[in-house]
Amino acid sequence: MSDIKVLVADDLSKAAVELMTKAGLSVDVKVGLAPAQLGEIIGAYHGLAVRSATKVTADILARASSLKIVGRAGVGVDNIDVKAATEHKVQVINTPSGNAVAAGELALGFMFALARKIPQATASMKRGEWEKKKFSGVEITGKTLGVVGFGNIGRQVAERAVGLRMKVLAYDPLLAPGSAAPAGIELVSFDDLVGRSDFITLHIPLTAETKNLFGTATLAKMKKGSYLINCARGGVIDETALYESLKAGHLGGAALDVFEKEPCGPLPLFELDNVIASPHLGASTKEAQSKVAVELAEVFVDFFKNGKVRNAVNKL
Ligand SMILES: NC(=O)c1ccc[n+]([C@@H]2O[C@H](COP(=O)([O-])OP(=O)(O)OC[C@H]3O[C@@H](n4cnc5c(N)ncnc54)[C@H](O)[C@@H]3O)[C@@H](O)[C@H]2O)c1
Repeated sequence: MSDIKVLVADDLSKAAVELMTKAGLSVDVKVGLAPAQLGEIIGAYHGLAVRSATKVTADILARASSLKIVGRAGVGVDNIDVKAATEHKVQVINTPSGNAVAAGELALGFMFALARKIPQATASMKRGEWEKKKFSGVEITGKTLGVVGFGNIGRQVAERAVGLRMKVLAYDPLLAPGSAAPAGIELVSFDDLVGRSDFITLHIPLTAETKNLFGTATLAKMKKGSYLINCARGGVIDETALYESLKAGHLGGAALDVFEKEPCGPLPLFELDNVIASPHLGASTKEAQSKVAVELAEVFVDFFKNGKVRNAVNKL
């Protein structure tokens, strides 16, 4: 196995590197390579491990004559040209389960922050103010939470929301009809979820079907004063339509971790008091970063040692 060479091109935890080395893989850690540098050395490697910084382009893949597998520590593979990888017979894998708790907890944190205006109150306090009336909020207990996308993260959020004594609705078109819902969670249609929820949290991929799923028409069907949370992918909400809905006083507030364009710069949405935001922090916890790196290392070892493919993103 020591003739199998793996390049770790973005920061991966020490534990992950050790796991691969102990299994007999020869691992080089070279973080921060310019595309030209990566192109020069990639030909020597059988495995490439990245997070989101390294761009695995068609050009890089064309020069990767020995490459068998590219692994993304995380979920989104936007930085990997998956089509080109498939053409070059390179397996692409990701690590979907490692950051589900982190992303789910951020969505729940946003829900509390929206309900009680915590970020706005903090900013006001730091200006030396004491505005009790302005920051009166709403309670979460007894409210209805709509979870759009009942996959890894959506399930984490839904199950915890039951514990918060919320009424929980979930919608996922890929669930088999008649699927049993976990206790306390009601599987409903999209329109039912949109019309009944006090809070809606999105946990869907960005696809042709989900692009601008929350546009003018859907936002208008949401309850007046309800809240929208997006810790999934920018683009599933139409940011202009969201701005219009908030500005018109229809939606009560929105919390956004992801944006159509990232970094997003100063958006019109940020001029609104009831919008809170974070710079794509869903997976940014110590625990998640470590879990996704170790998961990637385990998949690589299984791939090279046992010829097993786990967490495949493409089909060869
Ligand atoms: N903010 C962050 O840092 C962060 C971190 C991790 C994941 N994410 C994103 O969160 C999203 C969910 O991740 P996951 O790990 O739960 O993925 P997942 O694949 O486990 O779940 C996604 C679910 O969405 C469902 N779905 C697909 N199209 C749908 C539609 N039109 N309506 C409703 N449901 C639909 C799928 O059937 C699937 O069950 C992804 O977009 C991922 O990239 C963001």
